[in-house]
Amino acid sequence: MSKVILVETSPFLDQKPGTSGLRKQVTVFQQENYLENFVQSVFDCLKELKGSTLVVGGDGRYYNREAIQIIISMAAANGVEKLLIGQAGILSTPAVSHLIRKYKALGGIILSASHNPGGKDGDFGIKYNASNGGPAPESLTDKVFANSKSISQYKTTNNDAIDLEQLSHSSVLGMQIEVIDSVADYADLMESLFDFGKIRDLMAKPEFGICFDAMSAVTGPYATEILGNRLGVSANNIIRAVPLEDFGGGHPDPNLAHAKELVERMFANNAPAFGAASDGDGDRNMILGANCYVTPSDSLAILAANAHLIPAYKDGLTGVARSMPTSQAVDRVAERLNLTSYETPTGWKFFGNLLDANKITLCGEESFGTGSDHVREKDGLWAVLFWLNILAVKQQSIKEIVSEHWKEYGRNFYTRHDFEGVETEDADKVFTHLESLLEKSAGKKYAGRTISIADNFTYHDPIDASVSTNQGIRFLFEDGARIIFRKSGTGTSGATIRLYIEHFESNAAKFEDETQEVLRDLLEAAEEIGQVKALTGKVIADVIT
Ligand code: G6P
Ligand code: ZN
Repeated sequence: MSKVILVETSPFLDQKPGTSGLRKQVTVFQQENYLENFVQSVFDCLKELKGSTLVVGGDGRYYNREAIQIIISMAAANGVEKLLIGQAGILSTPAVSHLIRKYKALGGIILSASHNPGGKDGDFGIKYNASNGGPAPESLTDKVFANSKSISQYKTTNNDAIDLEQLSHSSVLGMQIEVIDSVADYADLMESLFDFGKIRDLMAKPEFGICFDAMSAVTGPYATEILGNRLGVSANNIIRAVPLEDFGGGHPDPNLAHAKELVERMFANNAPAFGAASDGDGDRNMILGANCYVTPSDSLAILAANAHLIPAYKDGLTGVARSMPTSQAVDRVAERLNLTSYETPTGWKFFGNLLDANKITLCGEESFGTGSDHVREKDGLWAVLFWLNILAVKQQSIKEIVSEHWKEYGRNFYTRHDFEGVETEDADKVFTHLESLLEKSAGKKYAGRTISIADNFTYHDPIDASVSTNQGIRFLFEDGARIIFRKSGTGTSGATIRLYIEHFESNAAKFEDETQEVLRDLLEAAEEIGQVKALTGKVIADVIT
């Protein structure tokens, strides 16, 4: 017979949730009581926990199943009434968001370190989403962190392990446990938003080729059901479709560097018309056409401009939002459509209030995230289906759609340079130096342009009036160009400095120019201003997107 057990524990002082929950190396999570402390710290923040329903699932990475068993025992001992768990422990982040909303759960626990590598030597992560389906607000994560620093005991029970591999009903200490189909509810939601009939017709055309790369991560089963079973894409065009605990040794981050086979197929002579990839937990997306890469910032702008073609958005958008470092391309579309375009700090959680208050319908980030009010997370497969629906209606190639968009709105040339594994002290030097420049920068000239504003971005949330400071150093030029420096909030070792560069071009003759070439003078100006290379010894960026 199971019974509630109180276990004495002592705090770990490093459990501060980052941009997207607590992410650490697997070995850190494997320390005795480490996960338990964090889970109890979350539970102790939730006043309505007793008698509630929680959704639990993860991206299938190493330690996923063990973590779920720990959470089952702790949830039962803490008085949760019901757990909905994805089969085999699998649930994508957007699917968790949807399940929380659909079944009116108190919240959900997502086990993922998103696009970070997995396996024994990789990363693990845990994140709590609230009853709106979105990431917990900072007010809650701050409380979790405070609890984690003073925790002295947690509650668990000595139940037998629950079989997660089969759909089933069981119970522990009176708590109901339902192991549910990981995909069905989410697939039905997608079918309710998009015109599957039109997309199916497009997929059936012999000249329309497609390749989806699930990166051996969570979107495999989702793509197999939605793209394969419901839309007719053949299995050999859904690559790396089986989730693996170590993602096959790969880095499940959908970008030009990490989705190699997909990129090779898409830049070959006989390339398919459409290519896409999603990340570890299924919330990111990368969109490609034949010999053509769509930047996430352009993708957001193009989705906004074409949303009226999609059944779910045919009545128009209420507004749009982008994170601060995301290019201003979507602002131009919003202006044309007479919509407000909100500028938020990096991190999906900042869109939550705007979505809940119905101020925006679409939002996105330069970090390969796009989404809408259908859930409260960014959503990789949703973005793929949105693009396929546009292609099915417009019957044009991706290249044609992108080029037409630039002709209509002008082109925001954009690049991000990442300097990874920087010593924390060196990164601090860069940002102290940047801070020291802010006051005296306005009016200064670089690359033939004049700085109009230099600041450290502060966000005033228009809904709850909360203020978020220190969200990135911006140098804004009179002609609309921008140079932005930000410290990554998702790394697990050392610091990563991100440099974002943008230049707006209205001259159509220059639209096909090479991005890095076009932005070269701004990149040089960025080094002159920020001294990243000089102060960190990093001569070249590790990743350029
Ligand atoms: C996660 C969040 C995104 C955010 C990204 C930023 O993926 O879900 O909303 O844009 O982190 O990562 P960074 O490493 O730049 O802090
Ligand atoms: Zn992710």
